[in-house]
Amino acid sequence: MRTPIIAGNWKMFKTVAEAKALAGEVRQAVANIDQVEVVLCPPFTALTAVKEVIDGSKVGLGAQNMYWENQGAFTGEISPLMLAGLCNYVIIGHSERRQFFGETDETVNKKVKAALAHQLLPIVCVGENLAQYEAGETVAFVGSQVKGAFAGLSAEEAAKIVVAYEPIWAIGTGKNAEAAGANNIIASSIRGTLTALYNESVAQKVRVQYGGSVKPDNIEGFMAQPDIDGALVGGASLKADSFAVLIKGALVKFKS
Ligand code: 13P
Repeated sequence: MRTPIIAGNWKMFKTVAEAKALAGEVRQAVANIDQVEVVLCPPFTALTAVKEVIDGSKVGLGAQNMYWENQGAFTGEISPLMLAGLCNYVIIGHSERRQFFGETDETVNKKVKAALAHQLLPIVCVGENLAQYEAGETVAFVGSQVKGAFAGLSAEEAAKIVVAYEPIWAIGTGKNAEAAGANNIIASSIRGTLTALYNESVAQKVRVQYGGSVKPDNIEGFMAQPDIDGALVGGASLKADSFAVLIKGALVKFKS
């Protein structure tokens, strides 16, 4: 079975002091949970501080973005070289980056390749907007995003990637996708595309998270779906108690 992975995307929230406190609470809350991989993605400014807090625990660390060049005159950007050794994961192509900061399938692909070259595991975000959803374009659109993100990757590289299916209309809106519907989209547009690009074995190795208004009261429904391996969580990851409930919710995978 694919190891479930619950990641907290703290977005542009938490000062360094707040991030340290939250990371400490999460570390304590998940100390006895071995079967679920937990990843915290604080803002860049808090990565080092959070790393110190979670050091020696099984909690992993992710960045929310990065540029693809190792160094250079790119004011304000953070490179894979700077994140390597600090983080295990990096979120790439979040819809907010695509929407507000001009990221495209091409830049996502460059970032994915740069991350893998530095042993950073990409969490690649895909997902349709409301108009696309209502027009029935979801499967084709998400499939095209997957093709763009994975372009030029070997099967071995592809199998390491985590994909987060985050319908834009469900992010921060309280309107989550219906679990079985999200599972069907993941099966067809993500695993189906990976099967076509590589083979069934690669498609079955890639872990796929659902994201968009994941909350304590709906996590088990998502995690009970066969093609959903975890969640990428915004709002509900900003408090240790609700985030801990989500991580425990992933244990539903181990109930027969
Ligand atoms: P919310 O959980 O706040 O809807 O955010 C989802 C998200 O964008 C995670 O990356």
